[in-house]
Amino acid sequence: MCSVIGYSGNNLAAPILVKYLKKMEYRGYDSVGISTCHKNSIITKKKVGRIYEVNKKNKLDRLPGNVGIGHTRWATHGSVTDINAHPHASNSGKISIVHNGIIENYMEIKKHLMKSRYKFYSDTDSEVIANLLQYNFEKTSNIKKSMINTIKQLHGKYSFITILDNKLIAVRHHKSLMLGTKDGECFISSDILGIPIEIDDIIYLKDQSFVILGEKRIEMYDFSGEHIRFKTKRIEKKFHKISKLDYKHFTLKEIIEQAKSILQVNKRSIMKLSKLIKNTEKIYIIGSGTSYNAALIAKYLMVRYCKKIVDAIIAEEFTILPNMDEDSAIIAISQSGETADVIDAVDMANKENLNVYAIVNVPTSLLTTKCDCVVKINCGIEIGVAATKSFTSQLATIYLLLEEISNKKLINLASVSKSILMILENKLEVINISKILKNVKNMYVLGNGIHYPIASEGALKLKELSTIHAESMFGGELKHGSLTLIDENAYVIAINPKDSTYDDMKISISEIKSRGAKIVGISNHYNELYDYWIRMPTINEFVFPLIEIIPLQLLAYYLALEKNLDPDHPKNLAKSVTVK
Ligand code: G6P
Repeated sequence: MCSVIGYSGNNLAAPILVKYLKKMEYRGYDSVGISTCHKNSIITKKKVGRIYEVNKKNKLDRLPGNVGIGHTRWATHGSVTDINAHPHASNSGKISIVHNGIIENYMEIKKHLMKSRYKFYSDTDSEVIANLLQYNFEKTSNIKKSMINTIKQLHGKYSFITILDNKLIAVRHHKSLMLGTKDGECFISSDILGIPIEIDDIIYLKDQSFVILGEKRIEMYDFSGEHIRFKTKRIEKKFHKISKLDYKHFTLKEIIEQAKSILQVNKRSIMKLSKLIKNTEKIYIIGSGTSYNAALIAKYLMVRYCKKIVDAIIAEEFTILPNMDEDSAIIAISQSGETADVIDAVDMANKENLNVYAIVNVPTSLLTTKCDCVVKINCGIEIGVAATKSFTSQLATIYLLLEEISNKKLINLASVSKSILMILENKLEVINISKILKNVKNMYVLGNGIHYPIASEGALKLKELSTIHAESMFGGELKHGSLTLIDENAYVIAINPKDSTYDDMKISISEIKSRGAKIVGISNHYNELYDYWIRMPTINEFVFPLIEIIPLQLLAYYLALEKNLDPDHPKNLAKSVTVK
């Protein structure tokens, strides 16, 4: 997702901007650009493509000047073109901006400015910010006043950084923005990785505030222009320490890390959350993408073990239901803690004074500032766009939470960890299957009962990493329509551990086999119906989800390699989607 960054100091801005934009690459993007300010004029270079390639060809890091802004874009308004890439200049060329978020009323502003003879070159909503700033600055010649007037006219959720009157100014409105200073240098970024590791303390811009970076001082104001005193916060350095080590991709490294990362969940905060939930009648668990699949597992387990009313809701579809009241709790699950769909749902719940809790990985995220209790899953930074280790750590957290709420021993994480290691050691089986499946265009992934959310998560990994269309389904549901698509060319993955779901899944597999399809069975028990068998260790039935996702992640990863795709940077996807 879009990253914004700004620098002002004694050093050349351009190489610093390029370096830190690279560190934020994992967020996902389609184009990159920077502007620097040199001898009172602004120079901009921007292009579609990966930072490394764009920089190699266009030498972004050679721009002169000690003040600069940078951006990686994930297209929302306007296609992926050089012109739509950021930064965007105002008509005078004296103002440049980089923007993350959406300006909802940009068309209105554009029309209004066009009446005053402003010209627009891109299809983006962002370009209006640059011209609106110029319009307001020309009227007042005052940075603070022109910022306040501009902010008043912009509707939506956004953050932006601008070079205006040779100065750097950053605005935060419902999107994360942080600031680090050291020896006269200032760094502003949408992500902690955009701030150098040498900086110990950072300032999180308050929501609805802006900051003007002068040569000697930093001034922070709220949107009405009142001066704000800012506080610094110590950075958790472990989030900076990212390295692929000897692994070919972060995605593989993170899949392999799971045997350890599930053991790192924060038990103290789980106990705190369990106490709060014990007194709650109705629980609504929300999330997007992978985190929603974790929410489905949580729902399944809580209904079974906690005897409460529980529902799992896709964050974007969250609405306040009539039966939500002070006895209701919302648990938001999110790896990044920045997903706009989740943040909006949480804002809505907070407005209704509901109890809002979070299970999150990034400890400095926006979500953590909006919830009454936060459980950190602690799996370390996840760089691969497709979530892997954060999913199993979310599940480990959910199991431990359930143990606390129900006072029942449900899980032995040490033995789960051993089982994950066994699966990882047998990865050759999965690699061989990936060679057979590499030309397959469509797949079904079947799972019954608690295994269904894992089928959904497996299908999501196949789509994200290997771009194979995959659909998850309950085994028995296939016969109610989708069976028409099953023939000798079809491939079906069946999650089929020897537990209470086994016999029904076996019947479904027989029906599929009779129509000629090939079956990949993920099971701890051999069955002659499988054309290919991914052998699994035996483990407690309700804990099986934690291990059965591993071969699906591996399969998606090795299929990506077979298809010459880059698993760390899937096409069109972003790690944290900060716009609706
Ligand atoms: C994006 C990512 C997905 C992720 C989803 C939710 O779409 O590409 O991999 O599952 O966001 O992210 P969150 O950070 O809220 O868990």
